[in-house]
Amino acid sequence: MATALQSGVFPAVSHAVNAASTVSDDGMQKILLGVSGGIAAYKTPELVRRLVERGACVQVVMTAAAAAFVTPLSLQSVSGRPVRTALLAPEAEAGMDHIALARWADQVVLAPATAHLIARLAHGLADDLLTTLVLATSAPVTIAPAMNQQMWQHPATMANIAMLTERGCRLLGPASGEQACGEQGPGRMLEPAAIAAALLAPPPAAAGALAGVPVLLTAGPTREAIDAVRYVGNRSSGKMGYALAAALAGAGARVTLVSGPAQLPCPTGVQRVVVESAAEMHDAVMARVADCALFIAAAAVADYRPAQSLPGKLKKHADTLTIQLVRNPDILAEVAARPDKPFTVGFAAETEGLEAAARDKLGRKGLDMIAANEVGAAAGGFEADDNALLVLWPGGRRTLPMMPKPALATALTQLIAERYAASASG
Ligand code: C5P
Repeated sequence: MATALQSGVFPAVSHAVNAASTVSDDGMQKILLGVSGGIAAYKTPELVRRLVERGACVQVVMTAAAAAFVTPLSLQSVSGRPVRTALLAPEAEAGMDHIALARWADQVVLAPATAHLIARLAHGLADDLLTTLVLATSAPVTIAPAMNQQMWQHPATMANIAMLTERGCRLLGPASGEQACGEQGPGRMLEPAAIAAALLAPPPAAAGALAGVPVLLTAGPTREAIDAVRYVGNRSSGKMGYALAAALAGAGARVTLVSGPAQLPCPTGVQRVVVESAAEMHDAVMARVADCALFIAAAAVADYRPAQSLPGKLKKHADTLTIQLVRNPDILAEVAARPDKPFTVGFAAETEGLEAAARDKLGRKGLDMIAANEVGAAAGGFEADDNALLVLWPGGRRTLPMMPKPALATALTQLIAERYAASASG
């Protein structure tokens, strides 16, 4: 293996592949995939396949350590291009030298990116082909880290990541969960499908279907006042709803976002109405629902509110305190029950029995579509940057795999546009 790596191009097939069977990259998205030496490297052949499936042309560059986890031949077979490993390889430099390779790429993705690779990139080292390429390219660089959770959370790694993201590198993951070393925590590489989807997010092609469509969308948590300073709330960050508002606007929709208190900027082209409680959200929606063709309820609306909210601050006298809660109106169900109901999409966050619970909610609330996600699992859900959805409609279902929320919002928008068009034509 040492000689194979020193030669820089996987040797058995280098010339043959260079000359004859290298995949043509005419008009394709050109992705330079840098693979470093972590256990997650075994997933890279699948990543290459996912990228190729989506129409990309992939050139793999490996570090020396990566070849201990996955063979260059495997990656060459799936990418259809000779894998590059060494900086100064005579036969490769005669053809596509490292500068030409850096210029060739439309995107550079480092997956898995080990702690060591991240450190080398942060400090601008150029001691092998991969790090040299990253310095030499002007293409956007995406990093998909993979490492032990302790290594990920180490201040040195955090500082290196902060440095790289400040310089404009995009971070994908890592996800949390069980690790190859047996530990639990953040550090798992995102699944290949999610990385491929994030790199090659479908263009806002739903534009045709949603151009000019008035959409009313709820997002974020609600706060139910107990007294002047305290409230009952929930963990919703609003990230999914805001990403959806941005994707819908990108697809040409005229979006009004009724948002609970979320620490997020209003997406470009979106009209935002800020509310605090479920009752305020209810009133804001009901005042506008007659003017929308599509209603999407992405908010985590509190099901209950304190029966009384005190105007001042509640004093602590007794050892225990009982607060009586009363039901809030179900905004989504009320919209779906209107005689002039818009195309109505709900969300369902469940901890178990996801599909059965979501299917039941779809029927019970009279929805056209429901997007369900598992909360309380190791990855995804509230506050997280990534999520996965199971989308159901009467007679159909689609799974959208774990990916960053903006990519997921684009995929969901596409699906909503398809179902909305089908309902309008049927
Ligand atoms: O019944 P459940 O709360 O699980 O339903 C979730 C869906 O209903 C979400 O789309 C949420 O935005 C919406 N909802 C609502 N008003 C409520 C409670 C939930 O619009 N009071």
